[in-house]
Amino acid sequence: MGCLVLDLFEQELKKETLFRDRNVLSPHYVPDHLPHREKEINRIMKILAPALSQKHPSNLFIYGSTGTGKTATTKYVLKKLIEVREKYGAKVDSVYLNCRTYNTKYQVMLKLAQLAAPEENLMGYAFSHLYEKFTNYVNSKRVIFIAALDEIDKVKDLDELLYSLTRANDILESGHVCIIGISNRVTFKQKLDPRSKSTLCQEEMIFPPYNAEQLKAILLERCKEGLKEKTYTESAVALAAAFAARESGDARYALRLILKAGELADEESKKVVEEYVKKARAAVEEDVVVELINTLPQHQAIVLYGIALLSGKDGKYKRLAEEPPGKDRVLFSGEVYEEYKDLCKRWGLQPRSARWFREYLNELEMMGLITTMISGKGVRGNTRLIKMAFPKEKIIGALEKKLH
Ligand SMILES: Nc1ncnc2c1ncn2[C@@H]1O[C@H](COP(=O)(O)OP(=O)(O)OP(=O)(O)O)[C@@H](O)[C@H]1O
Ligand SMILES: [Mg+2]
Repeated sequence: MGCLVLDLFEQELKKETLFRDRNVLSPHYVPDHLPHREKEINRIMKILAPALSQKHPSNLFIYGSTGTGKTATTKYVLKKLIEVREKYGAKVDSVYLNCRTYNTKYQVMLKLAQLAAPEENLMGYAFSHLYEKFTNYVNSKRVIFIAALDEIDKVKDLDELLYSLTRANDILESGHVCIIGISNRVTFKQKLDPRSKSTLCQEEMIFPPYNAEQLKAILLERCKEGLKEKTYTESAVALAAAFAARESGDARYALRLILKAGELADEESKKVVEEYVKKARAAVEEDVVVELINTLPQHQAIVLYGIALLSGKDGKYKRLAEEPPGKDRVLFSGEVYEEYKDLCKRWGLQPRSARWFREYLNELEMMGLITTMISGKGVRGNTRLIKMAFPKEKIIGALEKKLH
Protein backbone atom coordinates (compact mmCIF):
# COMPACT_ATOMS: atom_id res chain seq x y z
CA MET A 1 0.00 0.00 0.00
CA GLY A 2 2.71 2.44 1.07
CA CYS A 3 4.57 1.51 -2.06
CA LEU A 4 1.56 2.22 -4.23
CA VAL A 5 1.15 5.72 -2.80
CA LEU A 6 4.80 6.44 -3.37
CA ASP A 7 4.43 5.24 -6.93
CA LEU A 8 1.57 7.65 -7.46
CA PHE A 9 3.62 10.53 -6.13
CA GLU A 10 6.58 9.57 -8.25
CA GLN A 11 4.40 9.18 -11.30
CA GLU A 12 3.04 12.67 -10.72
CA LEU A 13 6.57 14.04 -10.52
CA LYS A 14 7.78 12.22 -13.58
CA LYS A 15 4.68 12.96 -15.63
CA GLU A 16 5.47 14.47 -18.98
CA THR A 17 4.12 17.99 -19.13
CA LEU A 18 4.09 20.77 -21.69
CA PHE A 19 4.47 23.43 -18.99
CA ARG A 20 7.91 24.88 -18.41
CA ASP A 21 6.64 27.20 -15.64
CA ARG A 22 2.89 27.23 -15.12
CA ASN A 23 3.14 30.24 -12.83
CA VAL A 24 4.15 32.46 -15.76
CA LEU A 25 0.67 32.04 -17.21
CA SER A 26 -1.09 32.99 -13.98
CA PRO A 27 -2.69 36.43 -13.83
CA HIS A 28 -0.63 37.42 -10.76
CA TYR A 29 2.69 37.10 -12.52
CA VAL A 30 4.26 40.44 -13.49
CA PRO A 31 6.45 39.90 -16.55
CA ASP A 32 9.70 41.78 -17.08
CA HIS A 33 8.54 43.06 -20.40
CA LEU A 34 5.10 44.47 -21.20
CA PRO A 35 4.58 44.61 -24.95
CA HIS A 36 2.37 47.47 -26.22
CA ARG A 37 2.55 49.43 -23.00
CA GLU A 38 5.80 51.26 -23.74
CA LYS A 39 3.99 54.59 -24.20
CA GLU A 40 2.11 54.23 -20.93
CA ILE A 41 5.26 53.15 -19.05
CA ASN A 42 7.16 56.17 -20.36
CA ARG A 43 4.40 58.57 -19.46
CA ILE A 44 4.10 57.29 -15.87
CA MET A 45 7.89 57.40 -15.51
CA LYS A 46 7.92 60.97 -16.74
CA ILE A 47 5.25 61.97 -14.23
CA LEU A 48 7.07 60.30 -11.32
CA ALA A 49 10.63 61.20 -12.33
CA PRO A 50 10.71 64.55 -10.43
CA ALA A 51 10.51 62.48 -7.21
CA LEU A 52 14.07 61.33 -7.78
CA SER A 53 15.32 64.89 -7.43
CA GLN A 54 13.09 65.73 -4.44
CA LYS A 55 10.51 67.58 -6.54
CA HIS A 56 6.79 67.01 -6.18
CA PRO A 57 5.22 64.78 -8.82
CA SER A 58 1.60 65.36 -9.81
CA ASN A 59 -1.04 62.93 -8.65
CA LEU A 60 -2.15 60.55 -11.36
CA PHE A 61 -5.43 58.85 -12.12
CA ILE A 62 -5.31 55.77 -14.38
CA TYR A 63 -8.39 54.17 -15.78
CA GLY A 64 -9.32 51.67 -18.45
CA SER A 65 -11.37 48.52 -18.71
CA THR A 66 -10.44 45.24 -17.09
CA GLY A 67 -7.30 43.41 -18.21
CA THR A 68 -5.72 46.37 -19.99
CA GLY A 69 -2.52 46.15 -17.95
CA LYS A 70 -3.10 48.96 -15.43
CA THR A 71 -1.93 46.97 -12.42
CA ALA A 72 0.96 45.26 -14.21
CA THR A 73 2.21 48.54 -15.69
CA THR A 74 2.00 50.46 -12.43
CA LYS A 75 3.81 47.72 -10.50
CA TYR A 76 6.44 47.58 -13.21
CA VAL A 77 7.12 51.33 -13.02
CA LEU A 78 7.26 51.33 -9.21
CA LYS A 79 9.74 48.47 -9.33
CA LYS A 80 11.96 50.43 -11.73
CA LEU A 81 11.72 53.50 -9.54
CA ILE A 82 12.92 51.57 -6.50
CA GLU A 83 15.75 50.04 -8.54
CA VAL A 84 16.94 53.53 -9.47
CA ARG A 85 16.57 54.68 -5.86
CA GLU A 86 18.79 51.81 -4.69
CA LYS A 87 21.39 52.75 -7.26
CA TYR A 88 21.49 56.50 -6.56
CA GLY A 89 20.15 56.72 -3.02
CA ALA A 90 17.24 59.06 -3.79
CA LYS A 91 14.73 59.79 -1.04
CA VAL A 92 11.75 58.08 -2.56
CA ASP A 93 9.37 55.53 -1.07
CA SER A 94 6.46 53.77 -2.63
CA VAL A 95 3.67 51.45 -1.68
CA TYR A 96 1.16 49.54 -3.77
CA LEU A 97 -2.20 48.83 -2.12
CA ASN A 98 -5.17 47.05 -3.54
CA CYS A 99 -8.20 48.78 -2.08
CA ARG A 100 -10.34 45.69 -2.33
CA THR A 101 -8.42 44.72 0.81
CA TYR A 102 -7.76 48.21 2.18
CA ASN A 103 -11.22 49.59 1.60
CA THR A 104 -11.56 52.41 4.12
CA LYS A 105 -9.60 55.54 4.88
CA TYR A 106 -8.66 53.95 8.21
CA GLN A 107 -7.32 50.75 6.61
CA VAL A 108 -5.25 52.69 4.12
CA MET A 109 -3.80 54.98 6.78
CA LEU A 110 -3.08 52.02 9.06
CA LYS A 111 -1.05 50.44 6.29
CA LEU A 112 0.82 53.69 5.59
CA ALA A 113 1.55 54.19 9.29
CA GLN A 114 2.77 50.60 9.60
CA LEU A 115 5.22 51.25 6.80
CA ALA A 116 6.37 54.39 8.57
CA ALA A 117 6.84 52.59 11.90
CA PRO A 118 7.21 48.87 11.17
CA GLU A 119 8.37 48.02 14.69
CA GLU A 120 5.20 49.36 16.36
CA ASN A 121 1.86 47.62 16.67
CA LEU A 122 -0.58 50.30 15.57
CA MET A 123 -3.73 48.26 15.29
CA GLY A 124 -6.67 49.82 17.09
CA TYR A 125 -5.22 53.32 17.32
CA ALA A 126 -7.31 56.32 16.30
CA PHE A 127 -7.03 57.63 12.76
CA SER A 128 -5.40 60.87 13.96
CA HIS A 129 -2.62 58.91 15.65
CA LEU A 130 -1.89 56.89 12.50
CA TYR A 131 -2.01 60.05 10.43
CA GLU A 132 0.54 61.70 12.67
CA LYS A 133 2.86 58.67 12.52
CA PHE A 134 2.79 58.71 8.77
CA THR A 135 3.19 62.46 8.25
CA ASN A 136 5.99 62.64 10.85
CA TYR A 137 7.83 59.95 8.96
CA VAL A 138 7.48 61.69 5.58
CA ASN A 139 8.48 65.00 7.16
CA SER A 140 11.47 63.80 9.13
CA LYS A 141 12.84 61.61 6.35
CA ARG A 142 12.13 64.31 3.73
CA VAL A 143 10.88 61.57 1.53
CA ILE A 144 8.70 61.72 -1.58
CA PHE A 145 6.14 59.04 -0.81
CA ILE A 146 4.22 57.51 -3.70
CA ALA A 147 1.04 55.65 -2.76
CA ALA A 148 -0.50 53.60 -5.58
CA LEU A 149 -4.11 52.87 -4.69
CA ASP A 150 -5.38 50.18 -7.06
CA GLU A 151 -9.15 49.69 -7.43
CA ILE A 152 -9.46 53.02 -5.62
CA ASP A 153 -13.22 53.08 -6.23
CA LYS A 154 -13.55 50.39 -3.52
CA VAL A 155 -12.58 52.85 -0.74
CA LYS A 156 -15.84 53.64 1.02
CA ASP A 157 -14.85 57.08 2.36
CA LEU A 158 -12.56 58.05 -0.47
CA ASP A 159 -13.34 61.78 -0.44
CA GLU A 160 -12.18 61.96 3.18
CA LEU A 161 -9.06 59.90 2.49
CA LEU A 162 -8.06 62.14 -0.41
CA TYR A 163 -8.74 65.20 1.71
CA SER A 164 -6.49 63.89 4.50
CA LEU A 165 -3.68 63.09 2.11
CA THR A 166 -3.83 66.53 0.46
CA ARG A 167 -3.95 68.23 3.83
CA ALA A 168 -0.78 66.32 4.72
CA ASN A 169 0.97 68.05 1.83
CA ASP A 170 -0.21 71.44 3.09
CA ILE A 171 1.24 70.94 6.54
CA LEU A 172 4.41 69.07 5.63
CA GLU A 173 7.53 71.24 5.81
CA SER A 174 9.50 68.78 3.75
CA GLY A 175 8.65 65.60 1.97
CA HIS A 176 5.54 65.03 -0.08
CA VAL A 177 2.79 62.47 -0.67
CA CYS A 178 1.88 61.57 -4.24
CA ILE A 179 -1.15 59.47 -5.13
CA ILE A 180 -1.66 57.16 -8.08
CA GLY A 181 -5.29 56.07 -8.25
CA ILE A 182 -6.34 53.19 -10.50
CA SER A 183 -9.86 52.13 -11.48
CA ASN A 184 -11.67 50.18 -14.16
CA ARG A 185 -14.99 51.91 -13.55
CA VAL A 186 -15.55 54.66 -16.05
CA THR A 187 -18.39 56.24 -14.10
CA PHE A 188 -16.29 56.45 -10.94
CA LYS A 189 -14.69 59.81 -11.80
CA GLN A 190 -18.04 61.48 -12.34
CA LYS A 191 -19.18 60.46 -8.88
CA LEU A 192 -16.19 61.98 -7.08
CA ASP A 193 -16.57 65.13 -5.07
CA PRO A 194 -15.23 68.05 -7.25
CA ARG A 195 -12.46 68.72 -4.77
CA SER A 196 -11.35 65.06 -4.79
CA LYS A 197 -11.52 65.02 -8.56
CA SER A 198 -9.16 67.95 -8.92
CA THR A 199 -6.80 66.40 -6.34
CA LEU A 200 -6.63 62.97 -7.90
CA CYS A 201 -6.83 63.86 -11.56
CA GLN A 202 -3.92 66.31 -11.83
CA GLU A 203 -2.73 63.94 -14.52
CA GLU A 204 -4.92 61.35 -16.20
CA MET A 205 -4.29 58.33 -18.35
CA ILE A 206 -6.61 55.98 -20.14
CA PHE A 207 -5.42 52.46 -20.93
CA PRO A 208 -7.08 51.35 -24.18
CA PRO A 209 -8.20 47.74 -24.70
CA TYR A 210 -5.75 45.55 -26.62
CA ASN A 211 -6.52 44.46 -30.16
CA ALA A 212 -6.03 40.90 -31.43
CA GLU A 213 -2.57 41.61 -32.81
CA GLN A 214 -1.36 43.07 -29.51
CA LEU A 215 -2.84 40.24 -27.47
CA LYS A 216 -1.10 37.76 -29.71
CA ALA A 217 2.26 39.42 -29.04
CA ILE A 218 1.57 39.41 -25.27
CA LEU A 219 0.56 35.75 -25.30
CA LEU A 220 3.50 34.64 -27.44
CA GLU A 221 5.94 36.14 -24.94
CA ARG A 222 4.24 34.46 -22.01
CA CYS A 223 4.02 31.12 -23.85
CA LYS A 224 7.71 31.24 -24.63
CA GLU A 225 8.46 31.49 -20.93
CA GLY A 226 5.67 29.32 -19.59
CA LEU A 227 5.45 26.48 -22.10
CA LYS A 228 8.10 24.17 -23.49
CA GLU A 229 9.35 24.62 -27.01
CA LYS A 230 7.18 23.27 -29.83
CA THR A 231 4.23 22.53 -27.50
CA TYR A 232 1.99 25.21 -29.00
CA THR A 233 1.17 26.50 -32.44
CA GLU A 234 1.10 30.14 -33.43
CA SER A 235 -2.39 29.71 -34.86
CA ALA A 236 -3.68 28.44 -31.48
CA VAL A 237 -2.23 31.53 -29.77
CA ALA A 238 -3.70 33.76 -32.48
CA LEU A 239 -7.11 32.19 -31.91
CA ALA A 240 -6.98 32.81 -28.15
CA ALA A 241 -5.98 36.41 -28.89
CA ALA A 242 -8.86 36.80 -31.35
CA PHE A 243 -11.38 35.45 -28.84
CA ALA A 244 -10.14 37.81 -26.13
CA ALA A 245 -10.09 40.79 -28.49
CA ARG A 246 -13.68 40.09 -29.45
CA GLU A 247 -14.72 39.91 -25.79
CA SER A 248 -13.22 43.20 -24.61
CA GLY A 249 -9.48 43.29 -25.30
CA ASP A 250 -8.83 41.77 -21.89
CA ALA A 251 -5.31 40.29 -21.49
CA ARG A 252 -6.31 38.44 -18.31
CA TYR A 253 -9.00 36.54 -20.20
CA ALA A 254 -6.55 35.79 -23.03
CA LEU A 255 -4.08 34.32 -20.53
CA ARG A 256 -6.80 32.32 -18.86
CA LEU A 257 -7.73 30.80 -22.23
CA ILE A 258 -4.15 29.79 -22.94
CA LEU A 259 -3.63 28.36 -19.46
CA LYS A 260 -6.82 26.30 -19.74
CA ALA A 261 -5.95 25.16 -23.27
CA GLY A 262 -2.53 24.14 -21.91
CA GLU A 263 -4.15 22.11 -19.14
CA LEU A 264 -6.49 20.35 -21.56
CA ALA A 265 -3.67 19.58 -23.99
CA ASP A 266 -1.49 18.36 -21.13
CA GLU A 267 -4.00 15.56 -20.51
CA GLU A 268 -3.99 14.44 -24.13
CA SER A 269 -1.75 15.26 -27.08
CA LYS A 270 0.71 17.56 -25.23
CA LYS A 271 0.38 20.18 -27.92
CA VAL A 272 -1.78 23.30 -27.72
CA VAL A 273 -3.63 23.48 -31.03
CA GLU A 274 -6.73 25.48 -31.99
CA GLU A 275 -9.13 22.76 -30.90
CA TYR A 276 -7.98 23.11 -27.27
CA VAL A 277 -8.44 26.87 -27.36
CA LYS A 278 -12.02 26.38 -28.51
CA LYS A 279 -12.66 23.90 -25.70
CA ALA A 280 -10.94 26.23 -23.24
CA ARG A 281 -13.29 29.05 -24.16
CA ALA A 282 -16.37 27.05 -23.14
CA ALA A 283 -14.65 25.75 -20.00
CA VAL A 284 -13.51 29.21 -18.88
CA GLU A 285 -16.99 30.64 -19.24
CA GLU A 286 -18.38 27.79 -17.23
CA ASP A 287 -15.70 28.24 -14.56
CA VAL A 288 -16.57 31.90 -14.17
CA VAL A 289 -20.28 31.19 -13.68
CA VAL A 290 -19.60 28.35 -11.26
CA GLU A 291 -17.19 30.52 -9.24
CA LEU A 292 -19.82 33.22 -9.05
CA ILE A 293 -22.50 30.78 -7.94
CA ASN A 294 -20.25 29.39 -5.22
CA THR A 295 -19.93 32.85 -3.68
CA LEU A 296 -23.71 33.45 -3.55
CA PRO A 297 -25.35 33.69 -0.13
CA GLN A 298 -27.90 30.92 0.51
CA HIS A 299 -31.13 32.80 -0.18
CA GLN A 300 -29.83 34.36 -3.41
CA ALA A 301 -28.77 30.89 -4.51
CA ILE A 302 -32.27 29.58 -3.82
CA VAL A 303 -33.87 32.41 -5.79
CA LEU A 304 -31.57 31.65 -8.73
CA TYR A 305 -32.33 27.94 -8.43
CA GLY A 306 -36.04 28.73 -8.56
CA ILE A 307 -35.54 30.85 -11.68
CA ALA A 308 -33.52 28.09 -13.37
CA LEU A 309 -36.14 25.43 -12.57
CA LEU A 310 -39.06 27.57 -13.73
CA SER A 311 -37.28 28.60 -16.95
CA GLY A 312 -37.59 25.07 -18.26
CA LYS A 313 -41.23 24.53 -17.24
CA ASP A 314 -44.37 25.87 -18.83
CA GLY A 315 -45.82 28.34 -16.41
CA LYS A 316 -49.41 28.89 -15.47
CA TYR A 317 -49.21 32.23 -17.28
CA LYS A 318 -49.26 32.07 -21.01
CA ARG A 319 -46.02 32.61 -22.87
CA LEU A 320 -45.32 36.14 -24.02
CA ALA A 321 -46.05 36.57 -27.72
CA GLU A 322 -42.49 37.57 -28.65
CA GLU A 323 -40.88 34.54 -27.01
CA PRO A 324 -39.57 31.97 -29.47
CA PRO A 325 -40.75 28.46 -28.55
CA GLY A 326 -38.10 26.11 -27.14
CA LYS A 327 -36.10 28.95 -25.56
CA ASP A 328 -35.93 29.51 -21.80
CA ARG A 329 -39.12 31.14 -20.67
CA VAL A 330 -39.33 34.73 -19.49
CA LEU A 331 -40.68 34.64 -15.94
CA PHE A 332 -42.90 36.87 -13.87
CA SER A 333 -41.46 37.94 -10.56
CA GLY A 334 -44.64 36.77 -8.75
CA GLU A 335 -44.23 33.17 -9.86
CA VAL A 336 -40.53 33.23 -8.98
CA TYR A 337 -41.33 34.45 -5.48
CA GLU A 338 -43.85 31.60 -5.06
CA GLU A 339 -41.27 29.05 -6.25
CA TYR A 340 -38.63 30.53 -3.91
CA LYS A 341 -41.00 30.21 -0.93
CA ASP A 342 -41.81 26.60 -1.88
CA LEU A 343 -38.11 25.71 -2.09
CA CYS A 344 -37.41 27.32 1.28
CA LYS A 345 -40.22 25.31 2.86
CA ARG A 346 -38.95 22.12 1.29
CA TRP A 347 -35.55 22.70 2.90
CA GLY A 348 -37.00 23.80 6.24
CA LEU A 349 -35.93 27.43 5.84
CA GLN A 350 -37.87 30.57 6.68
CA PRO A 351 -38.49 32.47 3.40
CA ARG A 352 -37.52 36.16 3.44
CA SER A 353 -39.99 38.98 2.75
CA ALA A 354 -40.89 40.26 -0.72
CA ARG A 355 -38.73 43.31 -0.10
CA TRP A 356 -35.68 41.12 0.45
CA PHE A 357 -36.64 39.05 -2.57
CA ARG A 358 -36.57 42.17 -4.78
CA GLU A 359 -33.14 42.99 -3.38
CA TYR A 360 -31.91 39.48 -4.26
CA LEU A 361 -33.13 39.95 -7.82
CA ASN A 362 -31.21 43.24 -8.04
CA GLU A 363 -28.04 41.58 -6.85
CA LEU A 364 -28.37 38.61 -9.20
CA GLU A 365 -28.87 41.04 -12.05
CA MET A 366 -25.84 43.10 -11.05
CA MET A 367 -23.73 39.93 -11.19
CA GLY A 368 -24.98 39.29 -14.70
CA LEU A 369 -26.65 35.98 -13.81
CA ILE A 370 -30.13 37.14 -14.79
CA THR A 371 -31.63 40.01 -16.75
CA THR A 372 -34.81 41.76 -15.72
CA MET A 373 -37.09 44.35 -17.25
CA ILE A 374 -40.34 46.00 -16.34
CA SER A 375 -43.13 44.86 -18.60
CA GLY A 376 -44.97 47.48 -20.60
CA LYS A 377 -48.68 48.04 -20.24
CA GLY A 378 -50.86 45.15 -21.25
CA VAL A 379 -48.72 42.40 -19.76
CA ARG A 380 -50.38 41.99 -16.39
CA GLY A 381 -49.91 45.57 -15.26
CA ASN A 382 -46.39 46.72 -14.49
CA THR A 383 -44.64 43.58 -13.42
CA ARG A 384 -40.98 42.67 -13.43
CA LEU A 385 -39.93 40.11 -16.03
CA ILE A 386 -36.96 37.84 -15.38
CA LYS A 387 -34.73 35.83 -17.70
CA MET A 388 -31.71 33.62 -17.15
CA ALA A 389 -28.48 34.99 -18.63
CA PHE A 390 -26.83 31.55 -19.05
CA PRO A 391 -28.09 28.14 -20.15
CA LYS A 392 -30.05 26.79 -17.21
CA GLU A 393 -28.45 23.31 -17.27
CA LYS A 394 -25.04 24.62 -16.15
CA ILE A 395 -26.61 26.78 -13.48
CA ILE A 396 -28.81 24.02 -12.12
CA GLY A 397 -25.84 21.65 -11.89
CA ALA A 398 -23.69 24.14 -9.99
CA LEU A 399 -26.52 25.15 -7.67
CA GLU A 400 -27.47 21.58 -6.83
CA LYS A 401 -23.91 20.89 -5.78
CA LYS A 402 -23.95 24.00 -3.62
CA LEU A 403 -27.39 23.64 -2.07
CA HIS A 404 -27.59 19.92 -1.35
N1 LIG B 1 1.26 44.47 -22.06
C1 LIG B 1 1.23 43.33 -21.36
N2 LIG B 1 2.21 42.41 -21.50
C2 LIG B 1 2.20 41.26 -20.81
N3 LIG B 1 1.25 40.92 -19.95
C3 LIG B 1 0.22 41.78 -19.78
C4 LIG B 1 0.18 43.02 -20.47
N4 LIG B 1 -0.95 43.67 -20.09
C5 LIG B 1 -1.57 42.87 -19.22
N5 LIG B 1 -0.87 41.75 -19.03
C6 LIG B 1 -1.22 40.63 -18.16
O1 LIG B 1 -2.63 40.48 -18.18
C7 LIG B 1 -3.16 40.27 -16.88
C8 LIG B 1 -4.10 41.39 -16.52
O2 LIG B 1 -3.41 42.63 -16.44
P1 LIG B 1 -3.63 43.65 -15.24
O3 LIG B 1 -3.90 42.89 -13.99
O4 LIG B 1 -2.53 44.62 -15.23
O5 LIG B 1 -4.99 44.32 -15.75
P2 LIG B 1 -5.78 45.55 -15.10
O6 LIG B 1 -5.89 46.61 -16.14
O7 LIG B 1 -5.19 45.92 -13.80
O8 LIG B 1 -7.22 44.89 -14.93
P3 LIG B 1 -8.34 45.16 -13.76
O9 LIG B 1 -8.99 46.45 -14.10
O10 LIG B 1 -9.28 44.01 -13.94
O11 LIG B 1 -7.62 45.16 -12.45
C9 LIG B 1 -1.95 40.16 -15.98
O12 LIG B 1 -1.61 38.82 -15.84
C10 LIG B 1 -0.86 40.92 -16.72
O13 LIG B 1 0.40 40.38 -16.41
MG1 LIG C 1 -5.86 45.66 -11.84
